[in-house]
Amino acid sequence: MNTGSGTGHSPQVLITRCLPAPVMETAARRFHLLDTDPPEDLPERGTLLDRVADAEGIVSLLTERIDRQLIDAAPRLKCVANVAVGYDNIDLEYAFSRGIEVTHTPGVLTDTTAELTVGLILAVTRRIVEADRYTRDGRFTCWGPTLLLGEDLGSMQVGLVGMGRIGRAVAARLAGFGVRLVYADRRAIPPEEAERTGAVRVPLHQLLVSSDLISIHLPLTGETRHLFSRETFASMKPGAYLVNSSRGPVIDEGALVEALEEGRLAGAGLDVFENEPAIHPGLLGRDDVVLLPHIGSASTATRVKMGMMAIDDMTAVLAGGPPRFPVPR
Ligand code: GLV
Repeated sequence: MNTGSGTGHSPQVLITRCLPAPVMETAARRFHLLDTDPPEDLPERGTLLDRVADAEGIVSLLTERIDRQLIDAAPRLKCVANVAVGYDNIDLEYAFSRGIEVTHTPGVLTDTTAELTVGLILAVTRRIVEADRYTRDGRFTCWGPTLLLGEDLGSMQVGLVGMGRIGRAVAARLAGFGVRLVYADRRAIPPEEAERTGAVRVPLHQLLVSSDLISIHLPLTGETRHLFSRETFASMKPGAYLVNSSRGPVIDEGALVEALEEGRLAGAGLDVFENEPAIHPGLLGRDDVVLLPHIGSASTATRVKMGMMAIDDMTAVLAGGPPRFPVPR
């Protein structure tokens, strides 16, 4: 592996995993990269700890734990630029106590993630992935009036749990399908947006008992971890669907499997998992779940934008200026 590039005066930055080519090229022009050919896959923890020894900046992904051990291994560290909107992989309290700036990439991935979420909703309610498997297996021998029947999205009430940027972008798209929208969030959306989408703010419990499909759009915090537990599933409308494109640990995956096995839920669409990349074995064999490998923001254009945002903020911070997208303190 190639290590080291750039001029002697450029700030020393570690990019933990390979980013799209335009991002790597820009980074190589601006920084002395501590690894000019970072791995596509997860770097070994030991290698990462060694590599950050001289780093003034770390460009990280949600797969890297930026914890006390890693921060302590990087005594010159001034900035962590996380190429993600979420930042639950970072020990913020410790980073801030060490005077380290932390940035993230909000906004640019909103539409891409909302589109994926709508895709997941349609896939699970219309059994698209199951139907694809059926067709590939050579079982499509005759059109059938009762073959692979799903549910009409337009006749559903969809409950959005979390109405930040992504939740609102999902609402805007679902409004076009004619769904009744309710949402639970600490804050109300602006009245003109509520009018445009028809989204009505309700208490979480009301959303749970009355929604035909629930889509989760929450950050992972101490408060939201396992918000969807056995009790939550027990209070959901029987036969409802659950979709999650936010963070896996918001759902107690064991309790979800139980609810599916008992037939209390009709299905689930999951882009994220409690112990990613591990997936509860009880989900893997089920036809009523659609499982994706955390690809919410995975469009070419969006991944380039996310990387560029991180590189720009790293450049600003290492030059002594403020970042444009700091993680709120
Ligand atoms: C993806 O999950 C992100 O937080 O950007």
